Amino acid sequence: MNPVDIINKTKKSIPLSESEIQYLVNGYISGEISDYQMSSWLMAVCLNGLTDEETIALTFAMRDSGNVLDLSSINKVTVDKHSTGGVGDKTTIIIGAMAAACGVAVPKMSGRGLGHTGGTIDKLESINGYRTELQFNEFIDIVNKTGFSVISQSDELCPADKKMYALRNATGTVDSIPLICASIMSKKLVVNADCLLLDVKCGSGAFMKTEEDAQRLAKLMEKVGTMAGKKCRAIVTDMNVPLGNCIGNALEIKEAIEILNGKSKGRLYDTCIELTANMLELAEKGSYEECVAMAEDSINSGRALAVLKETIRLHGGDERICDDVELLPKAKFSHTICSSRDVEIISVNTEEIGMASLLLGAGRIEKDDDIDSTAGIVLEFSVGDKISVDAPLMTLYSNLCSDFSEPALRAYNSIRFRTLTSSISTLT
Ligand code: URA
Repeated sequence: MNPVDIINKTKKSIPLSESEIQYLVNGYISGEISDYQMSSWLMAVCLNGLTDEETIALTFAMRDSGNVLDLSSINKVTVDKHSTGGVGDKTTIIIGAMAAACGVAVPKMSGRGLGHTGGTIDKLESINGYRTELQFNEFIDIVNKTGFSVISQSDELCPADKKMYALRNATGTVDSIPLICASIMSKKLVVNADCLLLDVKCGSGAFMKTEEDAQRLAKLMEKVGTMAGKKCRAIVTDMNVPLGNCIGNALEIKEAIEILNGKSKGRLYDTCIELTANMLELAEKGSYEECVAMAEDSINSGRALAVLKETIRLHGGDERICDDVELLPKAKFSHTICSSRDVEIISVNTEEIGMASLLLGAGRIEKDDDIDSTAGIVLEFSVGDKISVDAPLMTLYSNLCSDFSEPALRAYNSIRFRTLTSSISTLT
């Protein structure tokens, strides 16, 4: 076998055998196959795609590039969940606690975010003292005690994805459904939970911009998970508007707690009920309707919040935030944008509002950039709301940026309004 023959085959859409794919992945990890050869193959995949069989072989070869976790000392059915990510997506923190409160174990490894806002690990690190880098034994111990733990993904897990994802980022080869599938699923299969719920986000703030692409990715990931022997389900959820009203790390922890203490309802709450019910159904806790009732009860009874509180405590974090969200870190600077006229909110460009929060310091451009855990945006509306003149539309927060003009303009321009009076729009 040689890399040029393999590149030529994919260039001509001739399917590769399992052993050719293993050779490619192992050769890239060992250094026998160079960055330029791998980039060339990745570009051929972006242009011509892969068959489902090739995608499965690629995922398994990437999974087997490192160790697969042994979760056998967890004494319950294990359920993992993955979201393909979006603006304001704090569901992992909420539904992990909800599902654990309903009797399943949620051992979760997450990443730091690149782009608009932080990832789940960045959000949790906004809690004073919360440790995300635990020894494996301590992680398992917490899962056995509370049913839920989130730690950061170790560098040794799935080395093939680490090396290939970095190369894809540098060579414009991220946006390929089979490559995204293999990247996400190899990491999920390494974690090795019994059940796997995949939340594929679709819309302006997501990787998948169209329903058709989101459905293709969802079906492919479900097929790969099932072939790997997992109970696996992928659902498509909307990311055309931010999920919830808060964007930014500490702000999203506050919102997560307000969902769990029952103070906040709406689209984020509904999405969390749907995702938790799917996790419980996969774990055979009951019919879908019974699982919805269990998910709702985990909030109404306060059990889910109690799980989160104890999980935060065992991670060394300040668990008192679960009783008093005012203890979360706060930004030094803020700026409120008010409506200059009576309007109805038609839509929000989720990607653009995410970019505004990035300008405030809530996200990262480069992998090693610092994040401002207090930065972000709180929206005072939902799509479809009518807002009166002078009423607040949103508040921007930051510790780093006291000149809000650029992020404020970007955030304001991300909203499409319908004017209900004839006065002229200005930014206040
Ligand atoms: N997230 C991943 O982990 N991999 C991709 O390729 C895209 C999103």
